[in-house]
Amino acid sequence: MAVARSEPFRDQVCPLGICEGDGWILGPEDVARPCDCRADRLRKSASRGVSSVIPRRFQGVSFDRPPISDMAREFQARGAVDAVRAYIGDLDGNLAAGRGVWLFGDPGTGKTTLGMLVSKTALERKHTVAIYSLPKLLARIRQSYDAGPDSDSYMDLFRKLTSVDLLHIDDLGAEKRSDWVLEQLYALINERYETERAILVTTNLDEAELIEQIGRRTVSRLVEMCDGCMVPMHGEDHRLAA
Ligand SMILES: Nc1ncnc2c1ncn2[C@@H]1O[C@H](COP(=O)(O)OP(=O)(O)OP(=O)(O)O)[C@@H](O)[C@H]1O
Ligand SMILES: [Mg+2]
Ligand SMILES: [Zn+2]
Repeated sequence: MAVARSEPFRDQVCPLGICEGDGWILGPEDVARPCDCRADRLRKSASRGVSSVIPRRFQGVSFDRPPISDMAREFQARGAVDAVRAYIGDLDGNLAAGRGVWLFGDPGTGKTTLGMLVSKTALERKHTVAIYSLPKLLARIRQSYDAGPDSDSYMDLFRKLTSVDLLHIDDLGAEKRSDWVLEQLYALINERYETERAILVTTNLDEAELIEQIGRRTVSRLVEMCDGCMVPMHGEDHRLAA
């Protein structure tokens, strides 16, 4: 196959030090084959512009370190740590099958901490992840409405949010309910539901409260997507206990 030396990463450097930075290795007679770096870099460029950053507070999260190592010994938190450990144990398979995680419980019980551990691991394994608290996600969507030529339009953003391997929404239900919010959430979650892509959510609300807040059709899809890993978190507010 003769290939016009192409597009996306023309002036970058091959992260593997193999190709000349464009993702292709040129053989005899100008026959090119893809470099090992190509698939990974294509996926990354497809999600450029969405947030894949683990917030500073959670950058060091690990099963081996507090608070998660403490939680693994606590009666009230042990079950949640085990559930997340099992999910991560087959992370690639779970993401490929669109199976997600739902962490719910009272404030300060470790939901965000465990959620960030999942996303951190997914990023380390080269999956694409979009990480947002719900208020930030909604703000990002609003901002896309008046995108300039250099930033993503609504459709670009929507495509990215629905095509990353994992969409991580922290604090679902924490925003003010409006028709617009309901529509946005439904559109995103339904698209990921239909294309079998995984989602991770944390929330303070139980299922009935969440239905009240974001609507039955959205919650019903989330329940099915997170069926194997719906994790209740119990205990005191560790922010207050600290
Ligand atoms: N079981 C625990 N043992 C020790 N510290 C914990 C435990 N659970 C959470 N923490 C600590 O409590 C703080 C809050 O944790 P985190 O943000 O994960 O809670 P959350 O469940 O997401 O709360 P919220 O619902 O308010 O968002 C963090 O500093 C975390 O390190
Ligand atoms: Mg939280
Ligand atoms: Zn390369």
